[in-house]
Amino acid sequence: MKTSLYFYTGTGNSLWTARKLAEHLGNTELIPMTFRGYGPINPKQDNIGIIFPVHIWGLPPLVIDFVNRMGVDPSKYYFALAVNAGQVAATLLQLKKLLLSKNSDLCAGFSMNMPSNYIPWGGAIAQEKQQIKFSAAEEKISRIAAMVRARKNIPSEKGPLWQNIIFSFFYRKSFPHIHKMDKSFWADDKCNTCRICEKICPVHNILISAGRPVWQHHCEQCFACLQWCPEESIQYGKNTKGKKRYRHPEIKLQDMLACVIK
Ligand SMILES: Cc1cc2nc3c(=O)[nH]c(=O)nc-3n(C[C@H](O)[C@H](O)[C@H](O)COP(=O)(O)O)c2cc1C
Ligand code: SF4
Ligand code: SF4
Repeated sequence: MKTSLYFYTGTGNSLWTARKLAEHLGNTELIPMTFRGYGPINPKQDNIGIIFPVHIWGLPPLVIDFVNRMGVDPSKYYFALAVNAGQVAATLLQLKKLLLSKNSDLCAGFSMNMPSNYIPWGGAIAQEKQQIKFSAAEEKISRIAAMVRARKNIPSEKGPLWQNIIFSFFYRKSFPHIHKMDKSFWADDKCNTCRICEKICPVHNILISAGRPVWQHHCEQCFACLQWCPEESIQYGKNTKGKKRYRHPEIKLQDMLACVIK
């Protein structure tokens, strides 16, 4: 059984999840998702996995665009891992709906609870707490691999009904503004013009001008720029200074840079 795993990641949680799943499945290729402007995607394998972070209780725009450009075939097995920090809400139902609108289906949708990278709501949790999440995730990934290998049809995981109603409302409200939410990013005086933020942005939304990053308003809100800045120079609004940055400890800067589509 050959599998293609398409992934998108800001701080490495989804990349780590994809790698672990690939190890369990064997015979699996890992492919970074292309973004708006790239042509159609025509997966060759019969098993297609989509692995991505949950943003604002729903699918990131990049993932929607990717799925819209993906050629689908109802005979293929589609599954997804929505990597989150405890609130998957209705994200996987949204993906299922999207695939159904293309005359296909999400055969299985799994929620992966990992450490949060949404720094405006809090810095990285303690390493011991991170390890507890990673161990639980690893155990779940081995169970997911068994289900995927058997091509099981499983109802998509979701949050409680009240959350799905309220959070999906917030998602719909904020969705049209996501690309411009980068207006809250800024770099303080610690910036040494290393250009890592420019290189790591998965959608090339940052240009360096006069020695400082300038955000171009087609942001995906993945927070890679802020979290990977080696000087902790990048801030979001007023309350991220001094908060502990988060990156998956087994994912290195080079791994992230290798995922960026040129
Ligand atoms: C803009 C933004 C919004 C987020 N929204 C949610 C959310 O709605 N629910 C949740 O559980 N986690 C949310 N998170 C946390 C991430 O989904 C979580 O940390 C994920 O594991 C990050 O994966 P990555 O390292 O592959 O990017 C959000 C993170 C960001 C940056
Ligand atoms: S990664 Fe940080 S230090 Fe490097 S250019 Fe960007 S803001 Fe400046
Ligand atoms: S500008 Fe920063 S938050 Fe926005 S997509 Fe690029 S790396 Fe992600």
